[in-house]
Amino acid sequence: MQSDKKIIILAIESSCDDSSAAIISDGKVLSNIIAGQKIHEEYGGVVPEIASRAHQANIIPVVDTALKKANISLNQLSAIAFTRGPGLLGSLLVGVSFAKAMALSLKLPLIEVNHIQAHVLSHFIDYPKPKFPFLCLTVSGGHTQILKVNDYLNMEELGTTVDDAAGEAFDKIGKIMGLGYPAGPIIDKKAKEGRAIFHFSEPQVDALNFSFSGLKTNVLRFLQKEIKTNPNFVEENINDLCASVQERIVSILMNKFKKAAFDNSIREIAIAGGVSANSGLRNALEIAGNKHSWNTYIPDFQYCTDNAAMIGITAYFKYLNNDFCGQDTVPSARYKF
Ligand code: KG4
Ligand code: ZN
Repeated sequence: MQSDKKIIILAIESSCDDSSAAIISDGKVLSNIIAGQKIHEEYGGVVPEIASRAHQANIIPVVDTALKKANISLNQLSAIAFTRGPGLLGSLLVGVSFAKAMALSLKLPLIEVNHIQAHVLSHFIDYPKPKFPFLCLTVSGGHTQILKVNDYLNMEELGTTVDDAAGEAFDKIGKIMGLGYPAGPIIDKKAKEGRAIFHFSEPQVDALNFSFSGLKTNVLRFLQKEIKTNPNFVEENINDLCASVQERIVSILMNKFKKAAFDNSIREIAIAGGVSANSGLRNALEIAGNKHSWNTYIPDFQYCTDNAAMIGITAYFKYLNNDFCGQDTVPSARYKF
């Protein structure tokens, strides 16, 4: 039987290059602290070994700050939650080991969380909350999926990418155009100043699946050809190039997402993950929502990219289901739900 005591969860996220800790009390976020790792910018992508070492340096200060900001002491905690996967193994290992050690020393239950499921459940941090069943396009640096969400912890994959993820496409094409890392937000900003005047082809992929590697090659070949006659082509056209690339990535995503909504006769439609911060995608979803009478759900910017608050809210639903794990849990780079 549930007691009157508040359920207070310390959640830890360390799946990629953000070290984050959050305190969630009865499903409400009291704090959500994120330490990013700027060092990867120099390398044009996340270097797994460096990410893992940076998590080791960041994890104690991040957890400490989350507790202080929430004004919660260790003896008030009900459980420790962590991201088990998917993600980079070395990065996950830091969060998993830290959570296990803390749970052991404080004699608290442990809750393992799937990172993708957590991106989807970020919609339950604030209002308005989607009604079940809803569709969620989960788009990040590592994943691109259309999910049918039947309940908090019951999700079915309807489609996924056969090669690169949408965020990876933004980042890799940005790198080809000489932009910094991560290129997604930079392309988004420059696209606002440009026009989508260059045509990049849309890949033909089966069912509700996606492909982005052809677009990357398409952009590369196009630029190689243009640079032959004008070496400054990229610099002179960067805003229009960004607008064109963004428009194509958004149309690839939206065409399949619309098909999923029609095929399943679902009008509760959400997006989640780092790429859901993209203004082009957010606008396209609003426009389609108005046209097709969908209820659309877009997360607050702070909950689009990786954060521990989404791990905490997922852990809260698992806590209510008595879904705990043992000290024998291990990180899983390809963890499935
Ligand atoms: O969810 P996330 O923080 O980490 C993963 O789980 O991968 O997503 C990071 C990805 C990166 O590829 C980044 O370029 C992309 O999200 N991203 C964006 C924007 N903000 C972040 N892509 C396009 N437009 C944005 N505004
Ligand atoms: Zn993520």
